[in-house]
Amino acid sequence: MKRFLLAAAVVAAAACTTTKQEPTLKDAFKENFTIGAAINEWQIRGLDTLGVQTLTKHFNSIVAENCMKHEEIHPAEGVWNFELADKFVEFGVHNNMEIIGHCLVWHSQTAPWYFFDDKGQLVTPEVLKARIKDHITTIMTRYKGKIHGYDVVNEAIVEDGSYRKSLFYQILGEEFIPFAFECAREADPDAELYLNDYGMNVPGRRDTYVKIIKDLQARGLRIDAIGMQGHMGMDYPTVEEFEESLLAFAGTGIKVMITEWDMSALPTVNMGANVADTEEYQAKLNPYPDGLPEEPAAIWNGRMKDFMDLFIKHSDKVQRVTAWGISDRDSWKNNWPVRGRTEYPLLFDRDYEMKPFLNEYLTK
Ligand code: XIL
Repeated sequence: MKRFLLAAAVVAAAACTTTKQEPTLKDAFKENFTIGAAINEWQIRGLDTLGVQTLTKHFNSIVAENCMKHEEIHPAEGVWNFELADKFVEFGVHNNMEIIGHCLVWHSQTAPWYFFDDKGQLVTPEVLKARIKDHITTIMTRYKGKIHGYDVVNEAIVEDGSYRKSLFYQILGEEFIPFAFECAREADPDAELYLNDYGMNVPGRRDTYVKIIKDLQARGLRIDAIGMQGHMGMDYPTVEEFEESLLAFAGTGIKVMITEWDMSALPTVNMGANVADTEEYQAKLNPYPDGLPEEPAAIWNGRMKDFMDLFIKHSDKVQRVTAWGISDRDSWKNNWPVRGRTEYPLLFDRDYEMKPFLNEYLTK
């Protein structure tokens, strides 16, 4: 009997050591918010095996970096390309992840046919409305019960708080936003519906979004949360101004999400500038091709920690934090706003090692 108990104890101890899980981000933040990543084609198809391992270990929410955008999924009238989007959704269902649909109405990466008739003239408001309704209804019906929530309208407002003069706006005016939300609610009444934009710290944009949220609410339309994209740099935004916007949005009664988090570690490029092509200028813009030195890495980690602390402080308001990619090697920032830079903006480095600022949350 004694020997049996001893053997049982040894087996139990062994089981304990082998089942002890390494800490993960999704567990570390499970009381706060879901933790997501945008995923690309190689990850959806399972070709980036290390990326997929990191993703399934640490994240419990996914969004497609490109494959659900209009030009990808609906390249011509009546032509739908669901192959990759279906795989993306299957991947999320299979791994029991919260799946986010990005995005239904956006001025960018929209196939040109959408706005023009066969004579090359801009379509009438009625035609564009019918097309929007068809686009939204087809996607949301297909993924009903699987996609948790959608970025219904993306990047509609510019810095000074006015509407972006996109073709949606030119043809439909401000009504394109409530119209899209109405179509989305009808298509899948159970899906969450979001507004999403960058530079949300800017007061003009912040104030207009507060107005738009209130207007949608006054019309009785569904709006669950606002996405603050969170594309940041070493010198913008400040934690204080970001917090101010977060609180202003939450003050309308809806949730906030950080939807496309990344922080450039490289010199900020003025988008209006004519980016010169000289070698000297390129070297200045791409100063760390062989690795991020200690000093900028410390500043970067410090800023990321400050923002993560802010999200945790307001985790009663923040329902999701999503990084725009898994590792530095797949970040869009390597090619934007300047092509061919070596960037360091994400939560995992090029070897899928977690960035140091996250350690503290894992060991708490
Ligand atoms: C980016 C993708 O990361 C790139 O691969 C693509 O070439 C351009 O779009 N705001 C958004 C995202 O809402 O969809 C954008 O994604 C980044 C900015």
